[in-house]
Amino acid sequence: MIEIHDLTKRYGDKTALNQLNLNIAPGQIFGLLGHNGAGKSTTIKNLVSIIQPTSGTITVDGLDLAQQRLAVKAKISYVPDTPDIFLQLSATEYWDLIAAAYQKSEAEVQQRRQRLMALFDMAEHAEEPMASYSHGMRQKAIVIGALLPDPDIWILDEPMQGLDPQAAFDLKNLMKAHAAKGKTVIFST
Ligand SMILES: Nc1ncnc2c1ncn2[C@@H]1O[C@H](COP(=O)(O)OP(=O)(O)OP(=O)(O)O)[C@@H](O)[C@H]1O
Ligand SMILES: [Mg+2]
Repeated sequence: MIEIHDLTKRYGDKTALNQLNLNIAPGQIFGLLGHNGAGKSTTIKNLVSIIQPTSGTITVDGLDLAQQRLAVKAKISYVPDTPDIFLQLSATEYWDLIAAAYQKSEAEVQQRRQRLMALFDMAEHAEEPMASYSHGMRQKAIVIGALLPDPDIWILDEPMQGLDPQAAFDLKNLMKAHAAKGKTVIFST
């Protein structure tokens, strides 16, 4: 269970979030829907603790994010709002980096990597630097990275952005399957 209590975020004089209250239960696919600048990415960045709230609290399975940041981070994976990250790495190197950060069995991660790479048609380009990828290919590489460790909570900021219809369809099915296992998916659109 994710509990956001009175979350306020200010950037200088600008209030991006004003006392947001939200509970997200396991088994849910929770969509953040809003216009540009509504505060979707700000909410998500607070949840994954890339930025700190101005005030308010976030707890995940009873753990206070501010106090137990690493324990909470082990439960979540994240697709950021831009796929233009780690461009000097190949997708394979990026996935290795992600896999190393989560304490999951090597065999399990490898198996999932093969499956996701085939599903998203990324095997052919996996060894090339992500700088040489199209926008959609970068997005697929980042999405695979987020799904690879298979933590309980997936937090996806505009995950369909740039994906072709087949990849978007496949990702939606993965999101549904994750929630059907009693896990949590949060995404913005
Ligand atoms: N680093 C920052 N510094 C200053 N203001 C910011 C910063 N990041 C976001 N904001 C402001 O906070 C508000 C919310 O932005 P946010 O990125 O959360 O919106 P969003 O709902 O994700 O929008 P989009 O649909 O365009 O992705 C906006 O007014 C934005 O200008
Ligand atoms: Mg955004």
